[in-house]
Amino acid sequence: MASLIGTIAQLVEQRIENPRVPGSNPGSTTKSQLTLAFFVSKHGVALHWHQPNASTMDKPSNIRPVNHTIHFHTPEQAANRETLWNQHLSGAGIRILADERFRHEPIYNPLASIWDESPKCFIPAGEKSKSLEVAQQIWTWLDNEKTDRGHVLVIVGGGTISDLGGFVASTYKRGLPFIIVPTTIVGMIDASIGGKNGINFGHFKNQIGLFQLPDLTYVDTRFIASLDALERTNGWMELVKHSLIADSALWTEIRDLDIHKTGAIEPWIQRAALIKKEIVASDFMDKSERKALNFGHTLAHALEWKAKEDGITLGHGMAVGWGMIWSIAWSASVYPEQSDSFSQVGQKIRAWLEAIPNDNQSDWLVTLNPSDLWTAVLKDKKNRDGIVLDVMLEGIGRATWDRPLSLIQFTSIWKQVFQ
Ligand SMILES: NC(=O)c1ccc[n+]([C@@H]2O[C@H](COP(=O)([O-])OP(=O)(O)OC[C@H]3O[C@@H](n4cnc5c(N)ncnc54)[C@H](O)[C@@H]3O)[C@@H](O)[C@H]2O)c1
Ligand SMILES: [Zn+2]
Repeated sequence: MASLIGTIAQLVEQRIENPRVPGSNPGSTTKSQLTLAFFVSKHGVALHWHQPNASTMDKPSNIRPVNHTIHFHTPEQAANRETLWNQHLSGAGIRILADERFRHEPIYNPLASIWDESPKCFIPAGEKSKSLEVAQQIWTWLDNEKTDRGHVLVIVGGGTISDLGGFVASTYKRGLPFIIVPTTIVGMIDASIGGKNGINFGHFKNQIGLFQLPDLTYVDTRFIASLDALERTNGWMELVKHSLIADSALWTEIRDLDIHKTGAIEPWIQRAALIKKEIVASDFMDKSERKALNFGHTLAHALEWKAKEDGITLGHGMAVGWGMIWSIAWSASVYPEQSDSFSQVGQKIRAWLEAIPNDNQSDWLVTLNPSDLWTAVLKDKKNRDGIVLDVMLEGIGRATWDRPLSLIQFTSIWKQVFQ
């Protein structure tokens, strides 16, 4: 099968070459299949994307209703938040699905204003909850609460709760409207944006699920303050990834950050979330540009599988961090002119990963055999016709995807980086 190589930089270039003016203070990008429009107004940043006439599309499988608002809770936008929230909830009955921890931990307005009087279902966070059994438990609760399609499911939690909740909402009575209030960094910049939801099945993550956008993603960065060092790092790694694949200026601004300082991460959330939104808008069904978001994830998934086998606790973001270090070294082997800047990136990421107290992941990595990991790499969803396809960087802020990877390359880079 011919491999399709593209770059986010091409997308950005297209935006610069093809400016359109859909709003009062806009920037926009025109792609062959989707039009993305930014509406920046005093009401905040609302991004809507819509598709041109279906007859102009060459891939019918890409035809989807795509319309998603992300609202960022900032002091400047405080006056408008109630309006926006009410607009989505006006007249609708509410059901709340929340991470178990919010039985006791603080939630904030406008969520707090609907909290007490709405029926709630609490589910513990974690991969174990992304199961058919737990989905069934929530469907039963929705039944017991006499839920119909006039109700809105408000999902409060990190990526595990929003993946599960989005799946439950999208399938219950052929789909309830749903709002995600992400409470982790991963949730805010990644899981709540882009419409992928799902549960784990068999031995595989996210095996059953849908592409279904929430009606609203409401990002309130006040939730970040209570995240521990590990969760901050997990989320930070995905944010770093967004910068490396699409925004070199962002990387320059964040590369020296002490992420454990109070308030250090919050200012970067909106920018990172919009990177994800822009990439998704260009390729909702994951056929091209969206694949760049998998940067660092091939090895990450293999490491997560191995960690589970070895009884090691390894957060997804941490695994992505190690995966990015490997991918950057692989990129340097193909683009040697970028070696210096790539190796600086690798060192910065390693420093963030190794700053977690009492963590001995580097020692564990040294013990691993790349051939074992390769068996997991061979099962990666991005592969085609038995060929392992992965994402690499051409430069900082420029990703390319569907790049074939052999066991020999995988092993030699592994030895170079981890042994
Ligand atoms: N759908 C997508 O596009 C997408 C993208 C990225 C990740 N994901 C999925 O997201 C999941 C990982 O998400 P996650 O990292 O948010 O995991 P998570 O939901 O398990 O949350 C991580 C931990 O943080 C805790 N937590 C949540 N909010 C908190 C808060 N405000 N303060 C303190 N602690 C809090 C949780 O209770 C949990 O212990 C994975 O299942 C992954 O597959 C999905
Ligand atoms: Zn990820």
